[in-house]
Amino acid sequence: MKILITGGAGFIGSAVIRLAVGRGHHVVNVDALTYAACLDNVASVARSPLYAFEKVDIRDRTALDEILAVHRPDAIMHLAAESHVDRSIDGPSDFIETNITGTFNMLEAARRYWQDAGRPDTFRFHHISTDEVFGSLGPTGQFTEQTPYDPRSPYSASKAASDHLVRAWLETYGLPIVLTNCSNNYGPFQFPEKLIPVVILNALAGKPIPVYGRGENVRDWLYVEDHANALLLVLEKGTIGRSYNIGGENERTNLDLIKTICAVLDAKKPKNAGSYADQIRFVTDRPGHDMRYAIDPGRIRKELGWRPSVTVEEGLERTVQWYLDNADWWQALQSRGGVGERLGTKT
Ligand SMILES: NC(=O)c1ccc[n+]([C@@H]2O[C@H](COP(=O)([O-])OP(=O)(O)OC[C@H]3O[C@@H](n4cnc5c(N)ncnc54)[C@H](O)[C@@H]3O)[C@@H](O)[C@H]2O)c1
Repeated sequence: MKILITGGAGFIGSAVIRLAVGRGHHVVNVDALTYAACLDNVASVARSPLYAFEKVDIRDRTALDEILAVHRPDAIMHLAAESHVDRSIDGPSDFIETNITGTFNMLEAARRYWQDAGRPDTFRFHHISTDEVFGSLGPTGQFTEQTPYDPRSPYSASKAASDHLVRAWLETYGLPIVLTNCSNNYGPFQFPEKLIPVVILNALAGKPIPVYGRGENVRDWLYVEDHANALLLVLEKGTIGRSYNIGGENERTNLDLIKTICAVLDAKKPKNAGSYADQIRFVTDRPGHDMRYAIDPGRIRKELGWRPSVTVEEGLERTVQWYLDNADWWQALQSRGGVGERLGTKT
């Protein structure tokens, strides 16, 4: 299959590309190379005859029409997005432009391409979204595909809007879409501004490890390669028009997660004295910080037979080891604007 993947120089998109090329798919990586991108993430496949790269901004509709006409993909996996909640609080406009208008452009370009090709029902537009569209849970319950949308940050609101557009393009134009909403991902190549890399890199640098609020917020963690595997499965076997929730059923409070990472680091790279956990500092909470996310992955498990293969303990072990082994990768990204700063406190 030939798959056009947007956002393939980012964290999850690059994991999907590495997996897809490894399985023999042709891949066209479409990415604008924003601050969050790094082409080293796909260096392992960059010379493959199965791989092509197009530096294109999804806000540019004309460019999208051109690359679809040139590459003629069998499917589109749409991951390109502004993805950092804290940045969405400081500057929501990029989130509106890329996540909403950009998705609109992708849908329109895909619709024209698909209609001109005679509306093949084998074509897929797979929109990759987040569990954050469902809002915040209390101490119990899980998000299902029927949970009403209730986004609460500029990021999650922009992703919710994009999900609605995608469903409308199915209902109105018949575009063969599938949609996935996934919980928090972690693993190799995650940009150094996200929680888990921040913890690892601040710990190693001897800096304070920030914990928002009291660290009681709960997230449901999924190893990125398990997500990539689920995404290819939905693309190949998912039912048109259906959405699938993807999650690892690995709920942790932020404080527990951070302490676990510190313990892994203590074992792998002990400090001269004390534990990395001694560097933990409680800081002002994020405005509108959702308390708990938890995914019920029953549908994707039952209908498509998907299960995560990596436990959170094993995944954190692998992730910490990867950051220890790949200092060149993250050091090169630390000079990018905003990295290492506390963002998302100005309201
Ligand atoms: N990270 C998570 O935990 C998580 C969980 C669920 C869903 N998602 C969704 O998965 C997708 C990928 O997330 P990620 O964490 O890999 O993000 P990321 O920030 O690491 O990567 C995003 C990529 O999109 C590209 N991009 C941004 N704006 C663009 C534009 N206008 N045109 C073309 N390319 C553009 C960037 O250059 C970057 O390479 C997003 O849609 C996100 O909402 C993420």
